[in-house]
Amino acid sequence: MVQALQAVRGMRDVLPEEARRWRQVEITLEQILLSFAYEEIQVPLLEFTELFSRGVGEATDIVEKEMYTLADRDGESITLRPEGTAGCVRALQQHGLLFNQTQRVFYRGPMFRYERPQKGRYRQFYQIGAEVFGLPGPESDAELLQLCHQFWRALGIDSLTELELNSMGSASCRSAYRAALVDYLTPLRAQLDEDSQRRLASNPLRILDSKSAATQDLLSQAPQLSDYLDDESRRHFDELCSLLTDIGIGFKLNERLVRGLDYYTNTVFEWTTTALGSQGPICGGGRYDGLVELLGGKPTAGAGFGLGLDRVALLYEQVLAEEPADRPVDVYCCVMSSAQQAFTMQLAQRLRDELPAYRIRVHAGGGKLKNQLRRADTSGAVWALIIGEEEAAAGTVSVKNLRQTGEQRTVAVAELARLLTTGPGERQQ
Ligand code: HAM
Repeated sequence: MVQALQAVRGMRDVLPEEARRWRQVEITLEQILLSFAYEEIQVPLLEFTELFSRGVGEATDIVEKEMYTLADRDGESITLRPEGTAGCVRALQQHGLLFNQTQRVFYRGPMFRYERPQKGRYRQFYQIGAEVFGLPGPESDAELLQLCHQFWRALGIDSLTELELNSMGSASCRSAYRAALVDYLTPLRAQLDEDSQRRLASNPLRILDSKSAATQDLLSQAPQLSDYLDDESRRHFDELCSLLTDIGIGFKLNERLVRGLDYYTNTVFEWTTTALGSQGPICGGGRYDGLVELLGGKPTAGAGFGLGLDRVALLYEQVLAEEPADRPVDVYCCVMSSAQQAFTMQLAQRLRDELPAYRIRVHAGGGKLKNQLRRADTSGAVWALIIGEEEAAAGTVSVKNLRQTGEQRTVAVAELARLLTTGPGERQQ
């Protein structure tokens, strides 16, 4: 026998039951994004590698060790996108949609990072992201956070999430702080964990993020990023904090939050949860006022977030524990014999036209009515339609309620849609 193949490690199949939940989450989030007047943008999965090495930063974990990079057939180095911001900037810039304009866009789709897979962390994962361009003030940072806050409320997971907030200041405050941090840590180098020792030369700010307790202890006496903010950065951050308070969004200041991508300036944030074990961050983002210029455009303010759909869907599943997820089938049409096949298919189509929100499945493969009804039951449908010779001739249908009542009655085809929308199990149109 030929050996069956398995999925590539870290590449996950989202099977129908989970995919149904994902769709509910996606639809909810998309409606909120549209209600904030954000517009969708779709960008390719493959970009030139240079976009990410320049945009995300050579010294980040993503670029150093997590990208899926390959040579195209003509020898160009291309990479499966590890995140969405750089591609979004590239696309808007390439099409002349950034200079002297404002943009509010969102995107969604798979991202790829060669990380160690575990629950909530995959090598192909799914993000929904939003980006705002041309708006340098703190009100657009606040709007992005208000959007996220709305997401959690709409999904019923707001009590499971917490917002952590920090400011990294402008590029110049950051480099002054970086120098001070290196001065402080260099004599202590031997006491740092291995990763932090390496980062001391390549990306010292990331040491603030270290998971090692010993390193965190050393950092308690280290210079503080907030002491290096210039007046303008300080004002931006103070205004953001008071705006968030005024619109009722709670947050926790976290001086050590620096994020894993190099493009941030001023605001950085992460929405985290304790309900998913070690995969705490469910959404992260911030301001990146230098990125457009770094990628070859004119100086343009930018800010945004990326939300990890795999993780948000896991959280959503926890609050749904009691409620069944959206049912895959509402109406199951039994076909008594091949003579009624065409009538049944037409009837099903008429119902789909009349009740666009209903999911209508026509039985395939023949068999006894008893077996067809068993299939109808396991499909999760609320109603079974039974269409036999007599019904087809008379233009009627027998409708059996498979859930609450078990009752069966015969109605005229013209009455069917009304019956299905008034009884128990009705679906919102
Ligand atoms: P990020 O923090 O690298 O930011 O990713 C955003 C979110 O994607 C994370 O909070 C997490 O929920 C999810 N995520 C990341 N890696 C994985 C993984 N291996 N498996 C499952 N989920 C994962 C960015 O990507 C930035 N582009 C966000 C942004 C947009 N900043 C400004 N604009």
